Amino acid sequence: PLVSMKDMLIQAKENSYAVGQFNLNNLEFTQAILQAAEEEKSPVILGVSEGAARYMSGFKTVVKMVEGLMEDLNITVPVAIHLDHGSSYDKCKEAIDAGFTSVMIDASHGPFEENIEITSKVVEYAHSKGVSVEAELGTVGGQEDDVVADGVIYADPKECQELVERTGIDTLAPALGSVHGPYKGEPNLGFKEMEEIGAATGVPLVLHGGTGIPTKDIQKAISYGTAKINVNTENQIASAKKVREVLAADSEVYDPRKYMGPAREAIKATVIGKMREFGSSNQA
Ligand code: G3H
Ligand code: ZN
Repeated sequence: PLVSMKDMLIQAKENSYAVGQFNLNNLEFTQAILQAAEEEKSPVILGVSEGAARYMSGFKTVVKMVEGLMEDLNITVPVAIHLDHGSSYDKCKEAIDAGFTSVMIDASHGPFEENIEITSKVVEYAHSKGVSVEAELGTVGGQEDDVVADGVIYADPKECQELVERTGIDTLAPALGSVHGPYKGEPNLGFKEMEEIGAATGVPLVLHGGTGIPTKDIQKAISYGTAKINVNTENQIASAKKVREVLAADSEVYDPRKYMGPAREAIKATVIGKMREFGSSNQA
């Protein structure tokens, strides 16, 4: 069923695993992620950035595609459709009105008080509709669609506590050195701060930039209260690699099913690997 992230993440935190957020880019990504979740008996969060929603023609198309697939594929595990890095109250409201079950309001780029103000407004509307809310503090490095960072700023534990208390968000993404896109070298995550923020806020934490984080760091993050890990680039890389392989092996191929089908299998295999690594398999 389509649900918010609220219970999913509370359960994950209580039982020391993390639910994966896997980003949608098109039909094949959506099929692959839903099939992986059903096969693994894992809850799953479908992340949709504003850019990806635009690419897929809009929030309504995304919701109807997901609903259709859940019916046709007989999906029984809990699924959330989540706006990733929502840029404004209006965008969050638009996604909620289209049927999203969860939103992220990313007001981390402006002043702290402004972040609180916008996030509170989103929480008020979202919660009145049973929709969960994620907020962010600090800056995730790298670039994802419209979200560009020119430096990594670590979230401040005191501000995190205040944001959670004053807004009533369900989950918090404190930026602690993670990066969107591939890492240059090993990631250097602020685990000390993560532990402090997890304990001070009490809410399940989100780790953005899940691509390229070694298993030992994933496990550490989960042990410090991370209950949601976002992955996008790794699936994109797996899919592009497979398309290149198929097209390089046969210069006569033109039917998209002949290269997108194998790409879909590659995405599914990647997602299954992440679900096992995050410990969410057999938790639905
Ligand atoms: O919000 C989405 C993510 O944080 C994905 O990060 O593309 O580095 O896996 P990634
Ligand atoms: Zn992100």
